[in-house]
Amino acid sequence: ARPRQGSAGARSSAAGTRGLTADQPWSNMMVSCDQAQLMANLVKLIKAKKVIEIGVFTGYNTLNMALVLPDNGRVIACDINEDYAKIGKPLWQEVNHKIDLRIKPAVQTLDELLAAGEGETFDFAFIDADKESYNEYYEKCLRLIKKGGIIAIDNVSTAHLHYLKH
Ligand SMILES: C[S@@+](CC[C@H](N)C(=O)[O-])C[C@H]1O[C@@H](n2cnc3c(N)ncnc32)[C@H](O)[C@@H]1O
Repeated sequence: ARPRQGSAGARSSAAGTRGLTADQPWSNMMVSCDQAQLMANLVKLIKAKKVIEIGVFTGYNTLNMALVLPDNGRVIACDINEDYAKIGKPLWQEVNHKIDLRIKPAVQTLDELLAAGEGETFDFAFIDADKESYNEYYEKCLRLIKKGGIIAIDNVSTAHLHYLKH
C-alpha cells in the first residue's frame, strides 16, 4: 500500500534524495531545505494541483512538491539530463504517479504544453535551469500559469540580476 502523504515513508524518500544528491559532484545545484520547504508550503497553501519545475536535477524539490500535491496532482518536471534524474528517481516511488518527467529542452516542453491547450491551467512554476533562457521561461510560464498562481525563480538576488534582461 502507498504510504499516506506526510507519513514517515514519504518523508524519508525526500530526505533520502537529499542524502543521495549530497554525494554527487554537482550537489550544490540542489535547492536548500529551506527553499524546498517554502515551495512545498506555497504549493499546499494555494491548493495547487498542477506544477511545473524547470530544472529537476536529482528531483529533491520535485519530490518535495509532489508529496504535498493531491493524489491527482501533477508536476511537469523538465530537464535535459536524464542521468541526474536517474539518481533520485528510485526514491520518488511514493509519488511517481504525480511526476511527469520530460527529458528535452524545457522551452520545447513549455511550447508543447501551450500547444496542447494547457495555457492558464498551472498553479505554480519554479524556474531553476540554464540562466540564459530565464526570460523565455518566464514569458512562457506567464502564459501557462492561472490567475492567482505563483512563479518562483531561483538566482534572482541582486548578484544574479544580469540573468534577467529588460
Ligand atoms: C540548478 S539545477 C536544478 C536543481 C533542482 N531544481 C533542485 O532543486 O534540486 C539545474 C538543472 O537544469 C537542467 N537544465 C539545464 N539546461 C536545461 C534546459 N535547456 N532544459 C531543461 N533543463 C535544463 C540541468 O540539467 C540541471 O539538472
